[in-house]
Amino acid sequence: MISRRTVCASLIAGPALSAAADTKRYASLEARFSRGDLRDIHKEDLPTPAMVVDLDLFESNVKKMAEHCRAAGIQLRSHVKVHKSTDIAKRQVASGANGLTCATVAECELMAGAGLTGILLTRQPAGKNNIHRVVALAKREPTFATVVDDPLVADWLQDCAAAEKTTVRTVVDVFAGLKRHGIEAGQPAIDLAKHVDRSKNLKLAGWMGYSGIAAHVPGWPDRKARSLGDLAGLRETVRLAKAAGLPVEVVTGGSTGTYNIDSETKDLTELQAGSYVFMDTLYKVIGGKRDPKVYDDFAMALTVLSTVVSARHPKLCTIDAGNKALLRTTDEVKGHPRMKVINQGAEYGGITWEDGDQGFKLGDRVEIYPSNLDMSTNCYDRYYVARGEKIVDIWPIMGRSGAAQR
Ligand SMILES: Cc1ncc(COP(=O)(O)O)c(C=O)c1O
Repeated sequence: MISRRTVCASLIAGPALSAAADTKRYASLEARFSRGDLRDIHKEDLPTPAMVVDLDLFESNVKKMAEHCRAAGIQLRSHVKVHKSTDIAKRQVASGANGLTCATVAECELMAGAGLTGILLTRQPAGKNNIHRVVALAKREPTFATVVDDPLVADWLQDCAAAEKTTVRTVVDVFAGLKRHGIEAGQPAIDLAKHVDRSKNLKLAGWMGYSGIAAHVPGWPDRKARSLGDLAGLRETVRLAKAAGLPVEVVTGGSTGTYNIDSETKDLTELQAGSYVFMDTLYKVIGGKRDPKVYDDFAMALTVLSTVVSARHPKLCTIDAGNKALLRTTDEVKGHPRMKVINQGAEYGGITWEDGDQGFKLGDRVEIYPSNLDMSTNCYDRYYVARGEKIVDIWPIMGRSGAAQR
């Protein structure tokens, strides 16, 4: 935390560095970051708003999920949409994930470009652009697979793959409670699977059912009931598929919210959990199996670091993370759970506190836990990776919706 006293001390007394040296140092930080020169860089040196990963907590989250899946006998195909980082994906795979789940073609291309395999695209490709890129990916990386929930998309893929003389691994996406995607369970799903199976250049690789609503249901028993209900159709479809002799190589789905439900019910052979690497405040409040009030199975490892830029009113300060930084009133101030986060415009946010709370002063650093990882991550170019206060690495965030190739 940088205080008025610290700034003045370095300007007036210059205990460690003269003012001129400080100015030069800060002006050259970006060049140092691009060279990977992170000597003596601490959180207090960073430009804000900035995303900061607590490396110890992140590593323990990755290890915990991998160990849970190993012990439960379920595979882990970690979702990358929350982080969009090959550095993180490589660590997930190194810890035991059998592959990666992606929401967009750009994420798949990013991961494949970094040499990662076992990539599954969970938003079916529609439209020429995505069909051609998916087929190109399949040609280059034969372990890649995409979902489909419509025979028309299967036909588009088949035609394109035939023209390219390649095969696309294809997973049938079955409705599991979330109306945004998934073919109706039972006969319609079986018919689609047979259609895929008959398509010369498609290989039926398995089944998906993403019970996205169950993920955030408060209370573990209610969440389990919702998950079981939402996956009933998939369960039955898989039974019919086996009876019909259709391939059931994988049954994929699940989330951070249901990780210890899916591993118990055994409806899935692999888990697509993603948020566990960092966690966010919307997940924190759903309650865990052990503690019905707080879901603390995984630690809050990601913060948005901000600076107090104005403090002219009692019990309120203004920070430099605003709407453009995806600040939300459901965010939480690290170390100050009673404080409230308010929106104050595109480039401004605010923190308010009650009498008796220790408030923030001009120039202070404030760390905010984001409400939704996917949305917040999408605003930033990089993670600053910290051990304690020290910055030890920088991981680029790529494949974002702002990237030229979506
Ligand atoms: C298809 C799919 N699978 C899995 C997940 C689970 O991700 P998380 O663990 O971050 O909740 C998501 C999240 O939106 C998803 O869209």
